Amino acid sequence: MPGGGTPGAAGPIEHSIRDVGAVTHALCNLPVGGAVGVRGPFGKGWDVEAQLAAGRTDVVVVAGGIGLAPLRSAVRDLVERQQRGEVRLFVLVGARSPDQIVFAEDVAAWRAAGSFVEVSVDVAPVGWQGSVGVVTTLLPTASFDPARAVALICGPEIMMRFTALALVDRGVDPDDIRISLERNMQCGVGLCGHCQLGPLLVCRDGPIVPYGGVAAELLRERER
Ligand code: FES
Repeated sequence: MPGGGTPGAAGPIEHSIRDVGAVTHALCNLPVGGAVGVRGPFGKGWDVEAQLAAGRTDVVVVAGGIGLAPLRSAVRDLVERQQRGEVRLFVLVGARSPDQIVFAEDVAAWRAAGSFVEVSVDVAPVGWQGSVGVVTTLLPTASFDPARAVALICGPEIMMRFTALALVDRGVDPDDIRISLERNMQCGVGLCGHCQLGPLLVCRDGPIVPYGGVAAELLRERER
């Protein structure tokens, strides 16, 4: 398992960038050795350590599309923890089609390392051996204990909402479900208000928040 990008590991910091706009295009075209300024990290992360300390040792990771990128380093850490017998790890990945699965090599490596890993696609070509359908259809295949579970979810808001609802139905406490909110940010330190979502400043109170409390209501409201 590569060390870079894993919390606490020595080596270079890895950062995943999708080439979609002027800034990301410029970043993707930097020469090797080019200089990049980095601020942060700001706000709150997945907080896995605290969850494990609270006895939540069945970790359910649910990622939709590019949502796997912010989860990747946490999963790498969790795979190592599973190999040390500290957690049971369940990774469920959804993608539009097999060629849209991000970090496919990592996904295969996590499975090979002994973690429970399932992938579902919306559209399957001839010969696809895996599941077809939204990522929530994979939840019944994961044999986690709801009383000991913490869930980390990242993807489109509607996917996070329905995944969280399915986990609550299964018996997982909403406060043990973590979702990742995404908003345009400017100052990054709770001063400008650009990232406000209801009572939350996403740069300060998020981007990772518990589904319990205001987050569930906010996701529901935004679909109306
Ligand atoms: S980005 Fe300025 S308050 Fe969050």
